[in-house]
Amino acid sequence: MTATTAPPRTRRDDPLRRAVGLLGLSPRTLALSVLLGVLALGSAVALAAVSAWLIARASQMPPVLQLSIATVAVRAFGIGRGVFRYAERLTSHDLALRGMAQLRETLYARLATGRTESLVGLRRGDLLARVGADVDAVGDVVVRGLLPVAVAAVLGLGTVLAIGAFLPAAGLSLAVCLAVAGVVAPALAARAARRSEELAARSRADMTSTALSVLDDPGQLAVSGQLTGQLDLLRDADRRLAAATDTGARPAAVSAALGTLAVGAAVVAALALGIPAMSRGALTPVELAVVVLTPLAAFEATSLLPAAAVQVLRSRLAAERVIALLDAVDPGVPAVPRDAVAPLPAVRDAATDAGSADPADSGGVLPDHSGLVARDLACGWPGRPPVVSGLDLTVRPGRSVAVVGPSGTGKTTLLLTLAGLLPPRSGSLTADGATVASLDSEQVARSVVLTAEDAHVFETTVLENLRVANGATTADEARTALRRAGLGAWLDALPQGVDTLLGPDALNVSGGERRRLLLARVLVSPAKILLVDEPAEHLDTDTADALVRDLLSGSFRGEPPTPAASAGPLRGVVVVTHRLTPLDAADEVIVISDGFVQARGTHAELLRRDTGYRDSLWRENQGSVATS
Ligand SMILES: Nc1ncnc2c1ncn2[C@@H]1O[C@H](COP(=O)(O)OP(=O)(O)OP(=O)(O)O)[C@@H](O)[C@H]1O
Ligand SMILES: [Mg+2]
Repeated sequence: MTATTAPPRTRRDDPLRRAVGLLGLSPRTLALSVLLGVLALGSAVALAAVSAWLIARASQMPPVLQLSIATVAVRAFGIGRGVFRYAERLTSHDLALRGMAQLRETLYARLATGRTESLVGLRRGDLLARVGADVDAVGDVVVRGLLPVAVAAVLGLGTVLAIGAFLPAAGLSLAVCLAVAGVVAPALAARAARRSEELAARSRADMTSTALSVLDDPGQLAVSGQLTGQLDLLRDADRRLAAATDTGARPAAVSAALGTLAVGAAVVAALALGIPAMSRGALTPVELAVVVLTPLAAFEATSLLPAAAVQVLRSRLAAERVIALLDAVDPGVPAVPRDAVAPLPAVRDAATDAGSADPADSGGVLPDHSGLVARDLACGWPGRPPVVSGLDLTVRPGRSVAVVGPSGTGKTTLLLTLAGLLPPRSGSLTADGATVASLDSEQVARSVVLTAEDAHVFETTVLENLRVANGATTADEARTALRRAGLGAWLDALPQGVDTLLGPDALNVSGGERRRLLLARVLVSPAKILLVDEPAEHLDTDTADALVRDLLSGSFRGEPPTPAASAGPLRGVVVVTHRLTPLDAADEVIVISDGFVQARGTHAELLRRDTGYRDSLWRENQGSVATS
């Protein structure tokens, strides 16, 4: 993988340069592509020159033998043009596609291991646009931007020198016309297209993110009456995109006209300069034909340049977004110097160490710092006031904590902070004794794993879906995790066991099974602390309560082996839920409201002490009685 060096404050800061650097282009293949491009268009120019010579010379009716070499050359250049062009296409596309794959790989690796606080605030559609279309646009600069420019420069210079050798003034006039077609017209096109490209990028991002939200939740949007509004937004973004594209088409037409005008001017100038030169005897009539007709082919190279300039612009805008994403996840400055932090104690792979020698598993005493410890923790989003403050929390392996509170109080924000995805606003947060903010995400992932409300089930096998949390998971480990997550019967009914393909976003799996599948995924992760956000959302109350109860007690935390499933290591669990009924299984319940911990204790203690908690539980049971 290409490693990026820390950018010095020079032209290397240019996002397009940095992004193209990340493509990891092989200089030899790039040079070969340019050479093949020059040979292809050079063949076209040579074909024009030899044809002009042949036609003019043939009109003088020389012995046929004098023409035969030219006839062969015409054929050779005609064939060469096509062959070289094909070879150039193959080489340059291979180069660009490999580059895009390389850049994407770098991007995915950084996203997976980098800092995430700026990422969680990014719209999914926007992220998708950056790793998708934007990376393609950066790669396109090779084939549609750099290559045509390099080929046109070499070819233009060659043709000018060749024509100049016949008649220096004609070479000069050709140089001026080529500059108009190859520099002025593209600059004009690029300048006018800049605004339209900026507009298009914004509309494209709006369109992708709106389309994704509509595709993700069409049912819910339809029920809440928001589908029409979302579709209107989509149509509006599409209309703006079309308008932006139209805006860009006009200047492109102007610069194309300028290109054609330059071709005409070059021919007229060659005639105007060539005829007097012929009269003077400085040029033979056959040479005049060559001087007048050859430039026609040279403009083939410059005719691609307005589009190339627009491509460079488009790629630059895309590169800005890609580089901004890379910098956001990898600003290069860790929040706390890494060497100031004690190294994490090695954590064994949870899925492979059943029946382990962990001190806690064997009834030994856990070290003081083990697990997740928060002291006077405040959580919130960057640039906004904290949503939860003053939180003390200790989650040791084998212990379960439930967090409850009204919607919007900051429960998800708290879990994101505990998972190291958002930096704490104040207070301290340590995982196995190391400050979480100072660890990279790979280190945090060895201690803590989060299952978000909207965690994705991928359209692949059950096994691969579990490997999302731990790439080394074997089929046996996956089966054990599924059984421990309560999916034993489901697994037995699957036609190909853990190798069964799941449909898109697990639509062919019931809501409860989907949730349990996501929980099996956290079970194969090596982390000792599981953070689970609303595991029972959208489930009927009985299924929901059974799931939350399983999570807070039993196999998720580490239980003696059952006939169906062997025990795993001890794990600590933090569950955010809106159901109070199953919380008797939790070691501690924390009630958050209005930004602070309002009450905490065991379920029984809270029922005794806290009237609000008692009332909420009573209302919840009334509700389930009413709906059952
Ligand atoms: N990506 C985000 N960027 C900025 N603020 C956010 C973001 N997500 C949530 N918030 C804000 O943080 C606050 C807490 O939201 P959070 O999602 O943590 O609540 P919650 O308790 O999990 O709610 P619910 O029970 O509905 O899931 C809210 O005011 C919300 O608007
Ligand atoms: Mg939430």
